[in-house]
Amino acid sequence: MILIFLGPPGAGKGTQAKVLEDERFGFRQISTGDILRANVREGTELGTQAKGYMDRGELVPDALIISMMEPELQRAGNAILDGFPRTVAQAEALDAMLSRLEKPATAVLFDVDMAVLRDRLTGRWTHLPSGRTYHVEHNPPKAAGVDDVTGEPLVQRPDDNDETIRTRLAVYEQSTAPLIAYYEKSDPPRLVRIDALAPIADVSAQLENLIASGRLAAKNAARA
Ligand code: AP5
Ligand code: MG
Repeated sequence: MILIFLGPPGAGKGTQAKVLEDERFGFRQISTGDILRANVREGTELGTQAKGYMDRGELVPDALIISMMEPELQRAGNAILDGFPRTVAQAEALDAMLSRLEKPATAVLFDVDMAVLRDRLTGRWTHLPSGRTYHVEHNPPKAAGVDDVTGEPLVQRPDDNDETIRTRLAVYEQSTAPLIAYYEKSDPPRLVRIDALAPIADVSAQLENLIASGRLAAKNAARA
Protein backbone atom coordinates (compact mmCIF):
# COMPACT_ATOMS: atom_id res chain seq x y z
CA MET A 1 0.00 0.00 0.00
CA ILE A 2 1.34 3.43 -0.91
CA LEU A 3 -0.14 6.47 0.83
CA ILE A 4 0.47 9.98 -0.42
CA PHE A 5 0.29 12.48 2.44
CA LEU A 6 -1.04 15.72 1.03
CA GLY A 7 -1.45 18.93 3.00
CA PRO A 8 0.12 22.31 3.71
CA PRO A 9 3.29 22.89 5.74
CA GLY A 10 2.52 22.18 9.40
CA ALA A 11 -0.55 20.02 8.66
CA GLY A 12 1.03 17.10 10.55
CA LYS A 13 2.24 14.90 7.69
CA GLY A 14 5.62 14.11 9.25
CA THR A 15 4.14 13.62 12.73
CA GLN A 16 1.64 11.03 11.50
CA ALA A 17 4.09 9.30 9.16
CA LYS A 18 6.27 8.56 12.20
CA VAL A 19 3.25 7.03 14.00
CA LEU A 20 2.50 4.73 11.04
CA GLU A 21 6.15 3.65 10.87
CA ASP A 22 5.35 1.78 14.06
CA GLU A 23 5.77 -2.00 13.67
CA ARG A 24 1.99 -2.56 13.86
CA PHE A 25 1.57 -0.91 10.49
CA GLY A 26 4.98 -1.43 8.91
CA PHE A 27 4.96 1.64 6.70
CA ARG A 28 8.20 3.27 5.62
CA GLN A 29 8.16 7.07 5.58
CA ILE A 30 9.71 8.60 2.47
CA SER A 31 9.97 12.31 3.27
CA THR A 32 11.33 14.45 0.45
CA GLY A 33 12.04 17.25 2.95
CA ASP A 34 14.09 14.94 5.23
CA ILE A 35 16.02 13.48 2.27
CA LEU A 36 16.80 16.96 0.96
CA ARG A 37 17.85 18.24 4.40
CA ALA A 38 20.21 15.23 4.77
CA ASN A 39 21.73 16.09 1.38
CA VAL A 40 22.19 19.72 2.46
CA ARG A 41 23.92 18.60 5.69
CA GLU A 42 26.20 16.22 3.80
CA GLY A 43 27.02 18.87 1.18
CA THR A 44 26.11 16.65 -1.79
CA GLU A 45 25.58 18.04 -5.30
CA LEU A 46 21.79 17.67 -4.83
CA GLY A 47 21.97 19.41 -1.44
CA THR A 48 23.94 22.30 -2.91
CA GLN A 49 21.40 22.70 -5.71
CA ALA A 50 18.40 22.45 -3.36
CA LYS A 51 19.53 24.64 -0.44
CA GLY A 52 18.67 28.07 -1.84
CA TYR A 53 15.14 27.02 -2.82
CA MET A 54 14.53 25.48 0.61
CA ASP A 55 15.86 28.49 2.51
CA ARG A 56 13.51 30.74 0.54
CA GLY A 57 10.55 28.37 1.01
CA GLU A 58 10.27 27.72 -2.72
CA LEU A 59 9.95 24.34 -4.40
CA VAL A 60 13.06 22.53 -5.59
CA PRO A 61 12.78 22.00 -9.39
CA ASP A 62 10.64 19.04 -10.46
CA ALA A 63 13.41 17.28 -12.41
CA LEU A 64 15.66 17.06 -9.33
CA ILE A 65 12.85 15.74 -7.15
CA ILE A 66 11.59 13.20 -9.67
CA SER A 67 15.03 11.68 -10.25
CA MET A 68 15.59 11.57 -6.49
CA MET A 69 12.29 9.70 -5.96
CA GLU A 70 12.62 7.03 -8.69
CA PRO A 71 14.97 4.75 -6.72
CA GLU A 72 13.05 5.35 -3.48
CA LEU A 73 9.85 4.08 -5.09
CA GLN A 74 11.49 1.03 -6.59
CA ARG A 75 12.25 -0.31 -3.12
CA ALA A 76 9.00 0.88 -1.53
CA GLY A 77 6.76 -1.80 -0.04
CA ASN A 78 4.20 -0.22 2.27
CA ALA A 79 5.26 3.39 2.01
CA ILE A 80 4.12 6.87 2.94
CA LEU A 81 5.11 9.58 0.50
CA ASP A 82 5.47 12.60 2.78
CA GLY A 83 5.88 15.79 0.75
CA PHE A 84 5.73 14.22 -2.72
CA PRO A 85 4.20 14.93 -5.16
CA ARG A 86 3.89 18.69 -4.76
CA THR A 87 3.12 19.79 -8.32
CA VAL A 88 0.93 18.38 -11.08
CA ALA A 89 4.10 17.55 -13.05
CA GLN A 90 5.38 15.51 -10.08
CA ALA A 91 1.99 13.77 -9.74
CA GLU A 92 2.05 12.80 -13.40
CA ALA A 93 5.62 11.50 -13.08
CA LEU A 94 4.59 9.53 -9.98
CA ASP A 95 1.64 7.99 -11.82
CA ALA A 96 3.97 6.88 -14.59
CA MET A 97 6.34 5.29 -12.03
CA LEU A 98 3.47 3.59 -10.16
CA SER A 99 2.04 2.18 -13.32
CA ARG A 100 5.46 0.83 -14.37
CA LEU A 101 5.85 -0.76 -10.93
CA GLU A 102 2.18 -1.87 -10.91
CA LYS A 103 1.68 -0.23 -7.51
CA PRO A 104 -1.52 1.66 -6.71
CA ALA A 105 -1.57 4.64 -4.36
CA THR A 106 -4.15 6.65 -2.42
CA ALA A 107 -3.81 10.31 -1.43
CA VAL A 108 -4.71 11.29 2.15
CA LEU A 109 -5.56 14.98 2.44
CA PHE A 110 -4.77 16.56 5.81
CA ASP A 111 -7.69 19.00 6.04
CA VAL A 112 -6.63 21.85 8.29
CA ASP A 113 -7.46 25.50 8.93
CA MET A 114 -4.65 27.67 7.53
CA ALA A 115 -4.91 29.83 10.68
CA VAL A 116 -3.24 27.19 12.92
CA LEU A 117 -0.21 26.57 10.71
CA ARG A 118 1.97 29.50 11.75
CA ASP A 119 1.70 28.49 15.42
CA ARG A 120 2.46 24.85 14.60
CA LEU A 121 5.56 25.76 12.58
CA THR A 122 7.05 28.45 14.83
CA GLY A 123 6.56 26.17 17.88
CA ARG A 124 8.11 23.14 16.19
CA TRP A 125 11.42 21.60 17.31
CA THR A 126 13.02 18.98 15.09
CA HIS A 127 15.50 16.15 15.59
CA LEU A 128 17.24 16.48 12.24
CA PRO A 129 18.87 13.02 11.92
CA SER A 130 15.55 11.16 12.32
CA GLY A 131 13.06 13.82 11.20
CA ARG A 132 11.12 13.44 14.48
CA THR A 133 9.27 16.61 15.40
CA TYR A 134 7.93 18.07 18.62
CA HIS A 135 5.91 21.14 19.53
CA VAL A 136 6.47 23.36 22.55
CA GLU A 137 2.78 23.14 23.51
CA HIS A 138 1.05 20.40 21.53
CA ASN A 139 3.71 17.67 21.70
CA PRO A 140 6.61 18.62 24.00
CA PRO A 141 9.64 16.34 24.35
CA LYS A 142 10.08 14.57 27.72
CA ALA A 143 13.08 16.82 28.50
CA ALA A 144 13.20 20.33 27.03
CA GLY A 145 15.42 20.68 23.96
CA VAL A 146 16.36 17.01 23.49
CA ASP A 147 15.02 14.11 21.42
CA ASP A 148 13.08 11.49 23.44
CA VAL A 149 14.76 8.53 21.70
CA THR A 150 18.41 9.54 21.31
CA GLY A 151 18.82 12.38 23.82
CA GLU A 152 20.37 14.45 21.03
CA PRO A 153 19.62 18.18 20.71
CA LEU A 154 16.54 19.50 18.92
CA VAL A 155 16.77 22.45 16.54
CA GLN A 156 14.38 24.87 14.86
CA ARG A 157 14.34 24.42 11.09
CA PRO A 158 15.77 27.49 9.30
CA ASP A 159 12.64 27.67 7.10
CA ASP A 160 10.32 27.83 10.16
CA ASN A 161 10.52 31.64 10.35
CA ASP A 162 7.63 34.03 9.63
CA GLU A 163 8.80 35.26 6.25
CA THR A 164 9.62 31.80 4.83
CA ILE A 165 6.41 30.34 6.28
CA ARG A 166 4.42 32.96 4.32
CA THR A 167 6.20 31.94 1.11
CA ARG A 168 5.71 28.20 1.80
CA LEU A 169 1.98 28.66 2.39
CA ALA A 170 1.61 30.73 -0.82
CA VAL A 171 3.58 28.10 -2.78
CA TYR A 172 1.29 25.40 -1.35
CA GLU A 173 -1.85 27.25 -2.49
CA GLN A 174 -0.48 27.87 -5.93
CA SER A 175 1.39 24.69 -6.83
CA THR A 176 0.29 21.88 -4.49
CA ALA A 177 -3.41 22.54 -3.70
CA PRO A 178 -4.35 21.69 -7.35
CA LEU A 179 -3.39 18.09 -6.52
CA ILE A 180 -6.57 17.82 -4.42
CA ALA A 181 -8.63 18.00 -7.63
CA TYR A 182 -6.06 15.83 -9.45
CA TYR A 183 -6.66 12.91 -7.08
CA GLU A 184 -10.35 13.60 -6.42
CA LYS A 185 -11.22 13.63 -10.10
CA SER A 186 -9.11 10.65 -11.14
CA ASP A 187 -11.04 7.52 -12.15
CA PRO A 188 -11.60 5.97 -9.67
CA PRO A 189 -11.16 8.86 -7.17
CA ARG A 190 -7.98 8.42 -5.16
CA LEU A 191 -8.44 10.94 -2.34
CA VAL A 192 -9.57 10.50 1.26
CA ARG A 193 -9.77 13.38 3.75
CA ILE A 194 -8.90 13.42 7.40
CA ASP A 195 -9.57 16.13 9.98
CA ALA A 196 -6.04 17.34 10.74
CA LEU A 197 -7.26 20.12 13.06
CA ALA A 198 -7.95 17.51 15.72
CA PRO A 199 -5.34 16.71 18.41
CA ILE A 200 -2.39 14.54 17.28
CA ALA A 201 -3.72 11.32 18.87
CA ASP A 202 -7.15 11.81 17.24
CA VAL A 203 -5.59 12.28 13.81
CA SER A 204 -3.61 9.05 14.34
CA ALA A 205 -6.84 7.28 15.32
CA GLN A 206 -8.54 8.47 12.11
CA LEU A 207 -5.66 7.10 10.05
CA GLU A 208 -5.59 3.81 11.94
CA ASN A 209 -9.36 3.41 11.42
CA LEU A 210 -9.03 4.12 7.73
CA ILE A 211 -6.35 1.48 7.35
CA ALA A 212 -8.19 -1.06 9.50
CA SER A 213 -11.49 -0.46 7.67
CA GLY A 214 -9.86 -1.44 4.39
CA ARG A 215 -11.10 1.75 2.75
CA LEU A 216 -7.64 2.56 1.47
CA ALA A 217 -7.04 -0.99 0.32
CA ALA A 218 -10.48 -1.11 -1.33
CA LYS A 219 -9.64 1.98 -3.33
CA ASN A 220 -6.37 0.41 -4.30
CA ALA A 221 -8.06 -2.78 -5.36
CA ALA A 222 -10.55 -0.81 -7.44
CA ARG A 223 -7.68 0.75 -9.32
CA ALA A 224 -5.52 -2.33 -9.69
P1 AP5 B 1 9.07 19.62 3.99
O1 AP5 B 1 10.10 19.19 4.93
O2 AP5 B 1 8.19 18.63 3.36
O3 AP5 B 1 8.23 20.75 4.72
P2 AP5 B 1 6.71 21.22 4.54
O4 AP5 B 1 5.95 20.76 3.39
O5 AP5 B 1 6.81 22.68 4.67
O6 AP5 B 1 5.96 20.47 5.63
P3 AP5 B 1 6.34 20.44 7.09
O7 AP5 B 1 7.37 19.40 7.34
O8 AP5 B 1 6.67 21.84 7.53
O9 AP5 B 1 4.93 20.05 7.74
P4 AP5 B 1 4.35 18.68 8.27
O10 AP5 B 1 3.00 18.53 7.66
O11 AP5 B 1 5.30 17.55 8.11
O12 AP5 B 1 4.16 19.04 9.80
P5 AP5 B 1 4.68 18.31 11.13
O13 AP5 B 1 4.13 16.94 11.22
O14 AP5 B 1 6.15 18.49 11.31
O15 AP5 B 1 9.76 20.46 2.79
C1 AP5 B 1 10.72 21.45 3.07
C2 AP5 B 1 11.23 22.08 1.76
O16 AP5 B 1 11.84 21.07 0.94
C3 AP5 B 1 10.14 22.69 0.84
O17 AP5 B 1 9.84 24.02 1.22
C4 AP5 B 1 10.84 22.61 -0.52
O18 AP5 B 1 11.80 23.62 -0.68
C5 AP5 B 1 11.56 21.28 -0.45
N1 AP5 B 1 10.75 20.16 -0.95
C6 AP5 B 1 10.32 19.09 -0.24
N2 AP5 B 1 9.58 18.27 -1.01
C7 AP5 B 1 9.57 18.82 -2.25
C8 AP5 B 1 8.96 18.46 -3.48
N3 AP5 B 1 8.23 17.33 -3.60
N4 AP5 B 1 9.12 19.27 -4.55
C9 AP5 B 1 9.85 20.39 -4.46
N5 AP5 B 1 10.44 20.81 -3.32
C10 AP5 B 1 10.30 20.02 -2.22
O19 AP5 B 1 3.91 19.21 12.23
C11 AP5 B 1 4.21 20.58 12.38
C12 AP5 B 1 4.17 20.98 13.86
O20 AP5 B 1 2.82 20.87 14.34
C13 AP5 B 1 5.00 20.07 14.78
O21 AP5 B 1 5.57 20.88 15.78
C14 AP5 B 1 3.98 19.09 15.36
O22 AP5 B 1 4.36 18.66 16.66
C15 AP5 B 1 2.72 19.94 15.41
N6 AP5 B 1 1.51 19.17 15.13
C16 AP5 B 1 1.36 18.17 14.21
N7 AP5 B 1 0.10 17.71 14.20
C17 AP5 B 1 -0.58 18.45 15.12
C18 AP5 B 1 -1.93 18.45 15.59
N8 AP5 B 1 -2.84 17.57 15.09
N9 AP5 B 1 -2.29 19.34 16.56
C19 AP5 B 1 -1.36 20.21 17.07
N10 AP5 B 1 -0.06 20.25 16.69
C20 AP5 B 1 0.33 19.38 15.72
MG1 MG C 1 7.31 17.39 7.47
